[in-house]
Formats: sequence, C-alpha cells, structure tokens
Amino acid sequence: MSPFLLTRTLPEDATEAALRADVLKGLSHTPKTLPPKWFYDAHGSELFEQITELPEYYPTRAEREILVARSGEIAAATGARTLVELGSGSSEKTRFLLDALTGLHTYVPVDVSESALTQAGHALIAQRPELSVHALIADFTAGLSLPDTPGPRLLAFLGGTIGNLLPAERAAFLSSVRALLAPGDALLLGTDLVKDEDVLVRAYDDAAGVTAAFNKNVLTVVNRELDADFDPGAFDHVALWDAENEWIEMRLRSRTDQTVKVPALDLAVDFAAGEELHTEISAKFRKDGVREELSAAGLELAHWWTDGEGRFALSLSVVR
Ligand SMILES: C[S@@+](CC[C@H](N)C(=O)[O-])C[C@H]1O[C@@H](n2cnc3c(N)ncnc32)[C@H](O)[C@@H]1O
Repeated sequence: MSPFLLTRTLPEDATEAALRADVLKGLSHTPKTLPPKWFYDAHGSELFEQITELPEYYPTRAEREILVARSGEIAAATGARTLVELGSGSSEKTRFLLDALTGLHTYVPVDVSESALTQAGHALIAQRPELSVHALIADFTAGLSLPDTPGPRLLAFLGGTIGNLLPAERAAFLSSVRALLAPGDALLLGTDLVKDEDVLVRAYDDAAGVTAAFNKNVLTVVNRELDADFDPGAFDHVALWDAENEWIEMRLRSRTDQTVKVPALDLAVDFAAGEELHTEISAKFRKDGVREELSAAGLELAHWWTDGEGRFALSLSVVR
C-alpha cells in the first residue's frame, strides 16, 4: 500500500445531493435548521483550527492534556494495530496516540472535509514515513465501512464531536460504531463535560468573533454550492446554554425581515426579523450519562480520564 491513500466512499454528486436534501428539509422546517457537517469546507475547517487556539475554547487544550497523560495507558490497554479516527480534522492531537501505539500498522482518518484530510495526511506521512495512512472521505453518520486492515482496531472519536448529534442520533451512531468493532477492538470517546454556563457560552462566542465567522460560513457554503443569496452580514451569531438538555446551541438570528433565494432548489425562504436558524448543538456530558449511552449500544466503559480541571473526559471501552 502507498503510504497515503485517499478514498472517497461517497460519489462526489452524493455530497451535493445530500446538501440539497438537507437544505431543502432544514429551511422548510420550523424552526429552520442546517446540519453542522456543512460548516466544514476548506475555509470552515481552517476556521475550526483557529477556534481550537482561542483562549476561550478550552476543549482542545483539555483533551490534549488527557492524551498527553494517558496515551501510554490507552496503547497498553488496546495494543491497536489500526487506529481509525472519526471526524479527524487536522489530526493534531492524534500524534500523542500515534507516538504511543508502537505496533501501529495503519491510521485511518475519516472526515467529510477533503481539504482537512489531504493536509493532515501529507503532514503525517512527511513526519512518519513508516506509517501507512488510509484516509476516508465519508460521513460517519451514514453507514461507514472500513478498509481491511489488521486488528485490533482502536476507533477514536475526539473533540467532543459526538455532542453535535441529538440524543437519538447518538444512540444510532454508537450502535453503528459497535457494529464495526470485533472482540479486542476499542472505542476512545472524547466528551465535553457540563460546567459553568459562562465558561461554556464564552467557548462558543469568543471575543475575536472567530466562532461567529465559523457559524456564518455555513451560509457561504450554501451560497456557493446552491447559488443561494444569503447575506451573512444580515445574521447575528447566537450561542446559548440550554440547561434542560444540557447543550450549547448555535444559531444565526436574522437582523431584518428578509427573503433568501436558493435557485438550485427553486426555493424562496422568508426570515422574520429576530427569527433564528439553528446550526449546531454541542451537548455536554456527565459520567453516568456517557456510561449509560455506551451501555445501550453494547459498549462497556472501562476507563474514564479527565483533565486536571475536570472540564473534559476521554472514555475507553474495550470490546470483550
Ligand atoms: C469539532 S471538529 C473536531 C476535529 C478534531 N477531531 C478535533 O478534535 O479537533 C469536527 C470534525 O468532524 C468532521 N465532521 C463533522 N461532521 C461529520 C460527519 N457527519 N462525517 C464525517 N466527518 C464529520 C468535521 O469536518 C471536523 O473535522
């Protein structure tokens, strides 16, 4: 195998068809919604990398701290020969796992963002010429099939990205992950934890406005791909804490009464002044809830590690 292989598991037009279906459904729904996976074109992926370095955005630093401290234990507990990473993005934190997994044969980063995969893949093979990297452009919520590589497999889902799924979507996702794992394989899951509302809201509404630009980028994606005429300046970024559901919600609030046209869908969408388009949830977790959700999918929580301030957790489930 060549050291870097990039496989598209969906035909290119399937991505466009999925965007059309999501935009048609989401903008016809009350309240209006757009799924967060469409944030991540090349510019959105770059903005997300900037977010990870913001002083307010603690999750990346907290998760990195855990990986630095625990990658040796994770490697010892799993002995993984294949590391699969869902929503891998830049794979920046993954290097701690790659360093610790001394018997690793193949790294399989999986992401919807082709630009993120290409950039991360080329950087990795330059730094680790011995490592085989088989990148997959794929939607991890849509029936993933993995390349035939040696086990045991460690499937990592970092960054708290699982919190972007609604509870029912999480249950379906965890069951589909369980179905990919054989005895001896393991799931390493990163979850952001419930904490003080101010800290949470600031993480999604930074002073420099990078998260606002990231949120509005979804409008730019719809403009470019579906010829729509969203004016990103006519929407305000909103981040709020939903205490009942224990999740952060990101929304885009229309500044005025306006009509947005999406010619590719033959659609005209009215927004009232103050009306909000829902773009992302980011659920925050507690240990018992994570244990229960894993258990409902047939996975048993074996290790639970947090950073020193208890802001973020990594859990490891090894399949028996
Ligand atoms: C919050 S970022 C986390 C990136 C990285 N794992 C980290 O911890 O910094 C989410 C990543 O998941 C990817 N992503 C989002 N939805 C996805 C989906 N449905 N299928 C595959 N990748 C997805 C995005 O492109 C992005 O790289």
